[in-house]
Amino acid sequence: MLKKFTTLVASAALSVLLVSGVAQSADPITIKFAHVVAENTPKGQMAVKFKDLIAERLGGKVKVEVFPSSQLFDDDKVLQAMLLGDVQLAAPALSKFERYTPSLQLFDLPFLFKDMAAVQKFQSSDKGQALLKSMEKKGLVGLGYLHNGLKQFTCSNALRVPADAAGKKFRVMPSDVLAAQFQSLKAIPLKKPFSEVFTLLETKAIDGQENTYSNIYSQKYFEIQPYITESNHGLLDYMVVSSTEFWMGMPADIRTEVKKALDEAIAYGNDLSGKKDLSDRQLIVDSKRTEILTLTAAERAQWVEAMKPVWKQFEEKIGKDLIDAAYNSNN
Ligand code: LMR
Repeated sequence: MLKKFTTLVASAALSVLLVSGVAQSADPITIKFAHVVAENTPKGQMAVKFKDLIAERLGGKVKVEVFPSSQLFDDDKVLQAMLLGDVQLAAPALSKFERYTPSLQLFDLPFLFKDMAAVQKFQSSDKGQALLKSMEKKGLVGLGYLHNGLKQFTCSNALRVPADAAGKKFRVMPSDVLAAQFQSLKAIPLKKPFSEVFTLLETKAIDGQENTYSNIYSQKYFEIQPYITESNHGLLDYMVVSSTEFWMGMPADIRTEVKKALDEAIAYGNDLSGKKDLSDRQLIVDSKRTEILTLTAAERAQWVEAMKPVWKQFEEKIGKDLIDAAYNSNN
């Protein structure tokens, strides 16, 4: 009798162990986060921060794998891959969503924001926040804005006034607004993936490109482009996105924790973006490999004048209300 009882207890204990064992070894939710930049950039560091926060707080339940430098997907493929479930998180530049929503083209309008404080003000306004939801019908959910900074031109010749860019070939991100911006300078825009830019510059297939100091530094464009024009003419910011299917498919309590970690990682990246813009600029100056040209007020006015028609060209597509709201955030 006692033996039978002991056997019963033992087998009950075994099933408890087995059940809890199964629960413990259940596969964690895997979040693949793919991006195109180097690790030593605001986006690269934000991704690492997110991975670390998740490991610390949700280790065992959620696992983040980060793929920098276009290792997994180029930006022109990542959103399609996301809708197919091959990647769960990405933060493409706002210029790369054109196929999914016309509204985000707003952010590419030249000379729209005078500084990053204006960008932050607009993005956190109701209208800015509503844009995070502008692709939900297409299956993409915007989870936050991540800053990089304002763009500068790099070129094989010195660009002081718009006429200096005429006839030159510039790589642009896949954005009609950015293409129009270079056309307004009588230059030739070429839409190319980020991963190809260095080689295109090195082989002189293109004359120049536009990017932030952190990308100019980390991609080593400054080593092969003799001039940088400090124009601050446009914005390079990102939207952190996931597919609605993956995001809403997570258990609610886990989703809340993941979002919290993401918000903290974004805040960290945003803080870093301003610092890196200055420190990477300084590293470029110290390298003595290139010359940074600063513009006089009169020269800058010429660039504004030349590119301003792009606003009218896209006003109907983007919406005048939205353009006005973004522009008013400069005040
Ligand atoms: C580019 O393509 O120039 C940028 O979008 C790269 C990036 O993600 O910063």
